[in-house]
Amino acid sequence: MSLGLAGQLQWVSVTATAADASRLVVLEKLVHDPAPRVRLEALRALAKVGTGRAAELALGALNEPMDPTLDYALWLTINDLSEPWIAALQSGAWKTEGREKQLEFGLKAIKPEQASRVLGQLLAQHPLGRDGAGPWIELIGSAGTPRELQALFQQVLSGGFDDAASVRALKSLADATRLRNIRPDGPQADLGRLFDSSSDSVRVEAIKLAAVWKTLGTSFGRLSEIAGAAGSSDAARTVAITALRSIGGKGAADALAGLAGEGKEPAVRWQAAAALAGLDLGRAVPVVVAVARSLNDEPVAIEFWRRVLAVKGASKAVAEALPASGVPQSAARAGMRVAREGGRNEVDLVVALARSSGLATDTQAFTGQLIRELAAKAATQGDPIRGELIYRRTDLACIGCHSIGGAGGKVGPDMTSIGASAPIDYLVESVLLPNAKIKEGYGTVMVTTRDGTEWSGTLARETGQEIVLRNAAGAEQPIAKNDVAKRDLGTLSLMPSGLMDPLGEQEQLDLFAFLSRLGKPGDYDASHGGVARRWRLYTLTHTDQQNGRGNFMWESPFTDRSWAPVYSLVNGRLSRSLIQEATRRSQWEGTIALYAATEINAAKAGPVKLKLDASAGEVWIDGRKIGGTGELTTDLTAGTHRVIVRMDPKQIPDALRLESDGSFVLN
Ligand code: HEC
Repeated sequence: MSLGLAGQLQWVSVTATAADASRLVVLEKLVHDPAPRVRLEALRALAKVGTGRAAELALGALNEPMDPTLDYALWLTINDLSEPWIAALQSGAWKTEGREKQLEFGLKAIKPEQASRVLGQLLAQHPLGRDGAGPWIELIGSAGTPRELQALFQQVLSGGFDDAASVRALKSLADATRLRNIRPDGPQADLGRLFDSSSDSVRVEAIKLAAVWKTLGTSFGRLSEIAGAAGSSDAARTVAITALRSIGGKGAADALAGLAGEGKEPAVRWQAAAALAGLDLGRAVPVVVAVARSLNDEPVAIEFWRRVLAVKGASKAVAEALPASGVPQSAARAGMRVAREGGRNEVDLVVALARSSGLATDTQAFTGQLIRELAAKAATQGDPIRGELIYRRTDLACIGCHSIGGAGGKVGPDMTSIGASAPIDYLVESVLLPNAKIKEGYGTVMVTTRDGTEWSGTLARETGQEIVLRNAAGAEQPIAKNDVAKRDLGTLSLMPSGLMDPLGEQEQLDLFAFLSRLGKPGDYDASHGGVARRWRLYTLTHTDQQNGRGNFMWESPFTDRSWAPVYSLVNGRLSRSLIQEATRRSQWEGTIALYAATEINAAKAGPVKLKLDASAGEVWIDGRKIGGTGELTTDLTAGTHRVIVRMDPKQIPDALRLESDGSFVLN
């Protein structure tokens, strides 16, 4: 029988009403039909058959190419057929051998309570190997009973996993407790042994698990040792401090007060002070003030204030305790911003910080009249070229929260066409008075957890067990519903007010002029894509080369601190002055080469076109030279590829711009 697509689809709907046995014979073929539309309809028709055999046939679709729609259809079908499929698993009618992929899909699709009914039996048939291959480790976390959790925990403790699998197992154990409130049915104190693991990632994950289990009342000493030791990694220190805060009690507070003391290393000190605020606010306030007086690095200060002000009552207590002078302006500016971001408006703290640092608070009331005047002036007197540079300033943080052409933060709305779609007085008002109108879909969700921490952010997503917020820093903050004491919709914007305080009037006009051009044809139109916007820069010196770092630009992840991140301008150009600013270099003596790296994602294998606009430079991909300036074509395999423009330090171009018909990774 040979039918066209329309005929086949009709067949599917006819067969859905025919007798079971003959239906299945036809559907079995259609599930493997070359046309995805036919496979989709066949999957949905199988859901109506309601037998284990139908589930088996549906899962067979995984042997054909899948796409998100087919994936979802199969997911729905397996949920419709979950009971007969479970029965087939339990009776052994559905054999798992050679069908690991199908089993994994099925177990993840059905509800955790259902998966839990077969998990024990399945684990007995599939003992976990050292590498933890397969879906089992995560399934135990999402569906396992205390017995399976205990077996998993024992396997980590006895060294039965390699490091990567141990890390997964510890995460999975933490999820089971965090989200389902279930833990292993054996003793948990042995977890402390893993604090001394030779693998830092195992160690970090074990400490995080201790923070979730909170059963390690006696290990304060060990945790504070890890937090304070010069030999600990940054990650281990941070999680050790978080664990002390989470375990709580007098012992933990003592340990944190010790770590926050004068003379301790700054990075440990500020984190410990903020953690102590969460445990014992009264005791923490003088420490917090002392730390604030010592902070000179604005990004660190922002992080510090975000943690402190998340503690209920902290902003009032700190405002009262701040001295009349002596707080560095960078620390005060950071605090003033945090006090007005993320749906809070702590005016007392803003005033106290301004006073103690000698900064002005702009308490000017912005009336409708004033906003219209500023808007009119911006339209005639503002310079968008200067305005773009103001928009990029790190202290204003616009880029951290908003994106243009897909590059930038995702906390607030995309700015790509804001100038073309909104009148300029709306833009002026949005920036000066973020709370006046809150854009739909960007309302602030405020969640207080049982320990008194106040979290805020936009709602990134929500499941039955978890709320995930996107906070003002752009990070996803998962909160277990078990742990929520109170949840409200905030009335204030996540965007801080007072951002314009440090700017003079002309600078404000320039910024508004820039915003008002976004999306209009010309230099401020970023809507077409196809241009590299997110760059990382690396300068290779002779010393690097002698130290065996000659291949750094291909081997190291972009998270390595030697990469200097920088965005191109809205028109896609990465100018020489932006390069100099990002690398903090104005001269290039002693350097062998300057590398500007970005990434391209190829959906499928095949030729990709590139065009480098620059006075000089070479294009390299995955360690291979592709060509120089102008247009190029090269073959790429499917996946993500690192693309590097290599520049001669003696000929750094005034600007470079890289276009491609492939898609650039923007974040
Ligand atoms: C902490 C994150 C954050 C920072 C920093 C931030 N914004 Fe926002 N912004 C938001 C959020 C969230 C919204 C949406 C809620 C609202 O309407 O207030 C928003 C809204 C806006 C809007 C209105 C957009 C619309 O479509 O209605 C404009 C314009 C804007 N921001 C510009 C800026 C500029 C310019 C800066 C830098 C001076 C900046 N923002 C800094 C988070 C931020």
